[in-house]
Amino acid sequence: MVEHSLDVGRVTGSSPVSRTLLIKISNGMKILSIETSCDDTGITILEAKGSISNASFKIIANTSDSQIKIHTKYGGVYPALAKNEHIKNLPILLEKVLKKSKLLKLTNSAIAEFVNFKKPIDAIAVTYGPGLEPALWAGIVFAKELAKKWGVPIIPVNHMEGHILSVFGKNKGKFAIPKVKLPILSLLVSGGHTQLVLAKKWMNYKIIGETLDDAAGEAFDKVARMLGLPYPGGPEISKLAEQERKQKIGHSVLKSIAQADEPSIAIRQQANMCGFQNTMPNFLLPRPMIYSKNFDFSFSGLKTAVLYLIRKIGKLDEKTKEKIALEFENAVIETLIYKTIKAKEKYKAKTVIVSGGVSSNKYLRRQMKKFIGRDIKLLFPGKGLATDNSIMIGIAGYLRFLKNKGKNIKPDKIKAEGGLKL
Ligand code: KG4
Ligand code: ZN
Repeated sequence: MVEHSLDVGRVTGSSPVSRTLLIKISNGMKILSIETSCDDTGITILEAKGSISNASFKIIANTSDSQIKIHTKYGGVYPALAKNEHIKNLPILLEKVLKKSKLLKLTNSAIAEFVNFKKPIDAIAVTYGPGLEPALWAGIVFAKELAKKWGVPIIPVNHMEGHILSVFGKNKGKFAIPKVKLPILSLLVSGGHTQLVLAKKWMNYKIIGETLDDAAGEAFDKVARMLGLPYPGGPEISKLAEQERKQKIGHSVLKSIAQADEPSIAIRQQANMCGFQNTMPNFLLPRPMIYSKNFDFSFSGLKTAVLYLIRKIGKLDEKTKEKIALEFENAVIETLIYKTIKAKEKYKAKTVIVSGGVSSNKYLRRQMKKFIGRDIKLLFPGKGLATDNSIMIGIAGYLRFLKNKGKNIKPDKIKAEGGLKL
């Protein structure tokens, strides 16, 4: 364990102590990060060092617990239930992460034993928004209690900044933030958000477009429910769509899609040329707002179009479900890609980041790689970092701490902000 120069009791809420911490961090700063914005509880301990443009990290220990099994019964996330689960999970995960990290020699497993122990870390980073407020509060209250016991500062983290920075992380070992060319355009696609965010300067964000109604992930979840598929719907729809896509489109067609400007038109033209027309869906879903002049999205109409389609078809067999999943996934992914490319061109972005839960989508990744252009550095989150996690909160926490020059935020000022913007 490294020597700590912090004075327990003086730390929380006093900026001079944070400055001491800033000086000290060249030797490495241990951060415990907490994520509870939705239905994943995560705690990570990582060691961070270096400057804001040259930071490097080492994952000391990482733990998480997904509530999917609990929420799947209800077809979506219930905030009060999520909060209770976080409250239940956090102490268990804390014990686990501290044991894994070997930062404390625990003689027995009682929580009280180790939280009263000498502090094992330098700061606590916690998600304070956006997200489900009851769920966010669970993490914040827990962070405050720990910060008080250990006498360390709290770094409040914006969950969406976490998603942006997640593309630089790894779920174990060491990693560093590479030099990336500006401007950076980020497509953030999750269960709660669909945003295009421009950063002309490092860690300085402007939302240039966002969904006017449902988020892309939310649309995946709702359509999955209509098709009788479990929550979360994204991976389920994607599985069906991939199955159908493989059968439907021959290799030559896939190859030609890569060269075309507009994917859906390319698919249809090529399908006709190659004699695939009988296997094309006999229904088409809208590509919402694809030709609007701005960079906003809308997925609620698409979801309703699926609902009407299902009503019209009547009984759904497995094959029809696959066809609907394919056409729906095509509609969402084409829209996301089309707008991202337009925004990249307009703002002359040099780096494009695609992150958030929906960025796990294989078709989105494949098509984005094909269409984005060779001059662009395209970044996706690595394994375990696309959906909600506390590693990205630790990375964002450290960089925010440096960006704010170690200025401390009084713990009683930190509150859950469900609608927090970047
Ligand atoms: O970022 P995330 O874990 O949580 C939020 O901050 O919302 O994103 C969860 C969302 C869910 O809506 C889920 O259905 C979607 O990400 N998702 C996917 C895939 N994997 C997860 N959507 C499409 N394709 C996937 N493979
Ligand atoms: Zn998220």
